[in-house]
Amino acid sequence: MIAVSFLKSKYDRQTTIKLIDDSICELIHVDLMDGIYVDTKNFIIEEIIEDLKSTTKLLDIHLMCQEPLLYIKQLINLNVWGITIHLGSSKNISEIIEFLKNKHIKVGIALNPNENINLLNNYLEQIDYVLIMSVYPGKGGQNFIPEVLDKVKYLENKNVLIGIDGGINKDTIHYLKGYRIDNIISGSYVCLSDDYNKAIEDLKKELN
Ligand code: DX5
Ligand code: ZN
Repeated sequence: MIAVSFLKSKYDRQTTIKLIDDSICELIHVDLMDGIYVDTKNFIIEEIIEDLKSTTKLLDIHLMCQEPLLYIKQLINLNVWGITIHLGSSKNISEIIEFLKNKHIKVGIALNPNENINLLNNYLEQIDYVLIMSVYPGKGGQNFIPEVLDKVKYLENKNVLIGIDGGINKDTIHYLKGYRIDNIISGSYVCLSDDYNKAIEDLKKELN
């Protein structure tokens, strides 16, 4: 699957979300940053919920927010594919996993480039998805860090879906060839292009 992030775009948020929703990608990747877990803040929760209410594609929500449960409770009524949180964003990771499981929503944990795969040991059996960050969270348009693919390799035979997020474009997509990656997130490469479908097709082509 390809999920497109609207963090960095030529257009305003509403227009970008509409363009992604109308495109051939599989999921809308929703990056939410609170200005606490990461330096940047990019949403007012009520506004973003309003923008996402009318979308038809499922939402792959990536919370770069401290104490994400507060937001999660407001987001779960949307058309959600899964919700991903960062390990360092709460002292109650297990409680959040439990909450999402009870709601039958896929739960993911994101690992920053400098975070070791062993940090997942206590959670791997309970979660559905691991999002390997191939950039440091906080902004779109950064350079892909290929070393994180070692973590993908480790996860390939585990019972979790694998995503990769950050710096994926037509020049870096080749790094992903041969890995089991279930969800590839691309942001600025698609949203700064003139033709979202062509950009997504170009990524898909490289994977075959
Ligand atoms: C980084 C975000 C990514 C980012 C992807 O903080 O989690 O999802 O928006 O955008 P590109 O593809 O521009 O790195
Ligand atoms: Zn993201």
